[in-house]
Amino acid sequence: MPSKITKSNFGKLPDGTAVDQYTLTGGHGALCKIITYGGIVTELQVPDKNGRIADVVLGFDDLAGYLSPQPYFGALCGRFANRIAKGKFTLDGKTYSLAINNGPNALHGGIKGFDKVVWRATSGESKEGAALKLEYTSADGEEGYPGKLKVTVVYTFTGKNDLRIDYTATTDKVTIINLTNHSYFNLAGAGSGDVFGHELMLNAKNFTPTDDTLIPTGEIKAVKGTPFDFTTDKSIGKDIAQLYSQPHKGYDHNFVLDNQNKTLALCARVTEPKSGRVMEVLTTEPGVQLYTANFLSDTQGKAGKIYKQYGAFCLETQHYPDSVNHSNFPPVTLSPGTEYRTTTVYRFPM
Ligand code: GLA
Repeated sequence: MPSKITKSNFGKLPDGTAVDQYTLTGGHGALCKIITYGGIVTELQVPDKNGRIADVVLGFDDLAGYLSPQPYFGALCGRFANRIAKGKFTLDGKTYSLAINNGPNALHGGIKGFDKVVWRATSGESKEGAALKLEYTSADGEEGYPGKLKVTVVYTFTGKNDLRIDYTATTDKVTIINLTNHSYFNLAGAGSGDVFGHELMLNAKNFTPTDDTLIPTGEIKAVKGTPFDFTTDKSIGKDIAQLYSQPHKGYDHNFVLDNQNKTLALCARVTEPKSGRVMEVLTTEPGVQLYTANFLSDTQGKAGKIYKQYGAFCLETQHYPDSVNHSNFPPVTLSPGTEYRTTTVYRFPM
């Protein structure tokens, strides 16, 4: 079946701004829905090994759900995904202060990050599949970050059910950038219980340990012999209890991917044994945040389903949290005249 893309109304913000929803059709009955508010992936219907379709991302039925306080379901995060210690960083000798919105730190771009803005949308079809181009210009000084930043995110849903996300950006002053998508996945279907039985493989021999406020200590530590070893298939639940007493209450860590040369490479593979549904994540990024929805508490989502703690996992491809304050981490500065360019693919092989 040829891929296609259609648009419908998804409501209005309190100030009257219209929000649209785009439906991208893939192969074998698969579809992906994205709204212009936050660039949020609201639905991802993909087949299992027998061709049975399920919606594998957490979210809400209507815009009101996304506007209520909620933990970044499906959203684009920026300008700087994950944390910056105490919201402070120095660039070219100048110190910048961001809003503190997570304990003592800045998280996911601030009070009104890219997850809460309405993106300009252009739909199209490439030879690969249905494509949605989202654009947003972040003003110089917005949320405390320097430089006018022009961001483009292209979501492509292919006939093979790859959800490909291409991120590009340019700036007029030196700034920092780290963009990701914050989808919460449950491959048995959103709202179908915890994800402890999901088998995970991460192509990461190292991770970045954190302090009590989830800021990396700066150490790059081997996963071998720790609960963080997912170098071969292991269920998410196998070692998670060892982390319950920690401030993060489960997995909420950045893994240092083995591929550090900015080429698109396999980052993770997740298998849900009952449905046989598989998701592979490929990325050009050097890191990925594994978050097991530790801070999620009973939330009513799509079709009245209740989403519980540990009811999903996120694989947020990224540069490492607080990179701007760690000279041993891959750099996150963007200068005028250069282009930020990253790609991540969520693949659902049958
Ligand atoms: C990221 C963070 C988590 C949490 C979620 C959103 O994964 O690392 O600590 O803040 O986002 O709830």
